[in-house]
Amino acid sequence: MHHTQLSTALQHPGPRNLVFEDRHPALTDSRQELLAGLLEAEKSIPPKFFYDDYGSRLFEQITRLPEYYPTRTEERVLRSRAGEIAEVAGQGSILLEPGCGSCRKVRLLLQALRPAVFVPQDISADFLRRTAIELAAENPWLKVHALCSDFTRPGGMPTNLPAGRRILFYPGSTIGNMDPQAAAAFLDRWRRWVGPEGGMILGVDRHKDTARLEAAYNDARGITAEFNLHLIDRINSLLEGQLRRTDFRHMAFYDSVKRRIEMHLLCLREHEAALGGQLVSFRAGERIHTENSWKYTPDSLARLADRASLAVRRTWSDPEELFSVCYLEPLH
Ligand code: AVI
Repeated sequence: MHHTQLSTALQHPGPRNLVFEDRHPALTDSRQELLAGLLEAEKSIPPKFFYDDYGSRLFEQITRLPEYYPTRTEERVLRSRAGEIAEVAGQGSILLEPGCGSCRKVRLLLQALRPAVFVPQDISADFLRRTAIELAAENPWLKVHALCSDFTRPGGMPTNLPAGRRILFYPGSTIGNMDPQAAAAFLDRWRRWVGPEGGMILGVDRHKDTARLEAAYNDARGITAEFNLHLIDRINSLLEGQLRRTDFRHMAFYDSVKRRIEMHLLCLREHEAALGGQLVSFRAGERIHTENSWKYTPDSLARLADRASLAVRRTWSDPEELFSVCYLEPLH
């Protein structure tokens, strides 16, 4: 796998406390990855394809929906526990947030954590650039080293960072979009990156009643449906396709045994489409699996941490125990 180094550690002509490092993967890699999933017997699309500029903006809208409780619940926990989080995580660290999106949540911790450097990392270059410029302008005391990369690929990890204690900030239950094996491998990789003295602040959505979970992924305004169907536009633009959105329908349900929300695009009509130079057939009733969102109990989270040689040192939750923010440390 190779990466285009469009520019490395470019000083952005924005705020002086901002560096923008662009290590976005080559477009051909993304196309191949997308097509490979559509050629499988059980079609799937990696969820990272949601997050182009429009998809990132749709996700921002999702986070404000009345049914989508995770964001505002987590924000309440972060706001009210920022001091306690800083007590265990310490100040003056190198703080990195993979898949940072709009950086709304880290803003709730910055004053308490006072990191030496903040590294917002995301795959969506334009969105990241705007976010990083805003963040650096709002916090002139903070060094912002923005990194545009795909952290699921080997070349996506940050380099050129100063020495110091490392803290990973991974809110939003984004860890839930990986199956437990991939989540353990992900945490294990970042455990090695933070080192024995480092730590992780992790946001995790909790297992709960099906009705509440299903409402969060089937909102009345249809923003989640739009977010999911936007993948049809992504396929068309990346693979020069002519798929029609009206041939697909958004579908989301909770599997309470596996403890995961599954999101699919349900195909309504049998048809064939030329995608990236290949003929792809779609059957009526067939689904493209677009996302899993795993939910955790304190026990299943402790097991996940253990698989990555980490321990959950502290957990903060809201009174209804809908969502948890945890502090994890490497097992010595
Ligand atoms: C980013 N991630 C944690 C969201 C979730 O809840 O799994 C993505 C999302 N998909 C549909 N709604 C929100």
